[in-house]
Amino acid sequence: MSSDVEEVKSRINIADLIGEYIRLQKAGSNWRALCPFHNEKTPSFMVSEERNSWHCFGCGKGGDALSFVMEMEGIDFREALEQLAQKAGVELRRIEKGDRERENAKPRLYSILELATKWYEKNLWEGKGREKILKYLRGRGLQEDTIRNFRLGYAPDGWRNTLDFLAGRGYKTEEIAKAGLLVEKNREEENVQTANRYDRFRDRIIFPVQDIMGRVVGFSARVAPGGDEKNAKYVNTPQTELYDKGRILYGLHLAKIEIKKRDEAILVEGNMDVIASHQAGFQNAIAVSGTALTTDQIKIMKRYSENVKMAFDMDSAGQTAAKKSARICLENDLNVRIVLLPRGKDAADVVREDKKIWEKAIGESRGLVEYYFEDIFSRFDSQNPADKKKIAKELLNVIKDISNPIEQSHWLKVLAERLGTEEKILADVLDRSQKKEKKTFFESEEKGEGKASYPGYSLEKKIIGLLAAFPKECRRQTENINSDYFSGIQSKNILLAVLENKEDFNINKVKAGLADYENTKLLDEAIFEVEAEIEMNQTGNQKPLDPGEELKLYGERLKKIRLKEKIIEITQGIRKAEKSGNKEEIKRLMNEFQNLASIIGD
Ligand code: CTP
Ligand code: MN
Repeated sequence: MSSDVEEVKSRINIADLIGEYIRLQKAGSNWRALCPFHNEKTPSFMVSEERNSWHCFGCGKGGDALSFVMEMEGIDFREALEQLAQKAGVELRRIEKGDRERENAKPRLYSILELATKWYEKNLWEGKGREKILKYLRGRGLQEDTIRNFRLGYAPDGWRNTLDFLAGRGYKTEEIAKAGLLVEKNREEENVQTANRYDRFRDRIIFPVQDIMGRVVGFSARVAPGGDEKNAKYVNTPQTELYDKGRILYGLHLAKIEIKKRDEAILVEGNMDVIASHQAGFQNAIAVSGTALTTDQIKIMKRYSENVKMAFDMDSAGQTAAKKSARICLENDLNVRIVLLPRGKDAADVVREDKKIWEKAIGESRGLVEYYFEDIFSRFDSQNPADKKKIAKELLNVIKDISNPIEQSHWLKVLAERLGTEEKILADVLDRSQKKEKKTFFESEEKGEGKASYPGYSLEKKIIGLLAAFPKECRRQTENINSDYFSGIQSKNILLAVLENKEDFNINKVKAGLADYENTKLLDEAIFEVEAEIEMNQTGNQKPLDPGEELKLYGERLKKIRLKEKIIEITQGIRKAEKSGNKEEIKRLMNEFQNLASIIGD
């Protein structure tokens, strides 16, 4: 098993892997990015190809390819290993018996959903859906390869079709229910409760909902043509172990690369809109499933781009949901532009009628705040004092949510001008309301958490980092470096391992010797920090750092800290000995004190 892990890790290029999720920029020998695990505005997330590792200085997280995928996808070690093994083309050895027991239900739920998806697809292409549904989908302008690409399907009418099919493939009713495919009705019969379970999706067009990696996690099922669109137009998978609608963006697995490439996402209202938009060449379209955007979804979007264009129908229902989403984007510093669609039409209609209209609408998008200004000024009379107050109130409410201060002050100025009011007055109103509801978004997260710290910790880390990042330059400068001065158990172990290998330094050998994952993580962190410092020093015309000199300096500083600590200890000991009148002890300690003091004096 552990050699499997090494095999997988060695075949994965960590920058390629992480680059699939977030935008990396070259920074010296490393890559740099905005950390996907906490909210930040300046990039402090580093990736080293050389060492196959990553680290964030902001939140302190770091590790290897596996831990990255675990964090990112919220999956456990085994799942991450399987995923990467598949990517790397490594066949994992058979799972040990103990592992199999530990293996949770998730993989089985994925298989159920995958199997159900295939079956729904079959029903669409070869079964009852062929006549009825395919015709409808084509009528809405979808081409065959588009339908296949999004894996649309058909759930036939009846109460037990899906249930019987999956049961026939060896899955228990319990599991099928856990995957979200069944509805449960409790019936009371002669005082005996029996759970009655039947298919959730009946006579519906199936839109599989897939996660970032393309695994099916749930379904969004639209009523078939001729059905009752008013009540329950859509039936969706409820919250399950795999499906959390607040964290899913429909179409993202197909859109993520394009979003990154264009540095822009298009957020549309419905599944159909996503599909039509992709077909029209805008493969960066995604949708939320009938709810307002959540901060989780925004975080996910931000991994790929900070820019989003929201396309919504002018009808009021669409607008309210979209407005809510837009506000959340604003608060989270996502740049939002609004794409206005002709009244009563959704993106899918527009694309079907003429994809040029869609292109044009996207091209003519306007900034969110600008959109609010136009909207509100068009609804009120800016010459009328009562209306003026309303305009100010509504727009200040928008301006208040702009998290970027420069942008905020810009719009304040515009508002003052258009209302013919003094900016100062508006700024005061804004100040007061901002104080009232102090921003709390991510504030606690920004601070980072739980970092080890004791006197000398950062010096120990620097020393390790220098020795490992510049073995050649440092190996003749270690006379000051003494493992006795290292207080951290971890850092001491690492130091010893690094020193032991200093003549013929090989980072992977050192890491292999460390074995403990936390140790290798600390070592990586130390190297990243040193590299970052060197890199910062290279900008501007400062003279380049000499790693050997740096090492000497840090070694001395650490030594001083430890000697001072020792002196304090001795002083306390002397006081204690004086109290108890132990003359022998006092003398011994005084001697020691003299010795130390003279060393520090140098
Ligand atoms: N939705 C939902 N439940 C409903 C209605 C809508 O979950 N009762 C969600 C679906 O994800 C849908 C989205 O909200 O895709 C947008 O709704 P709507 O515009 O009504 O659906 P469309 O997918 O655009 O459907 P249509 O085929 O009529 O264009
Ligand atoms: Mn629609």
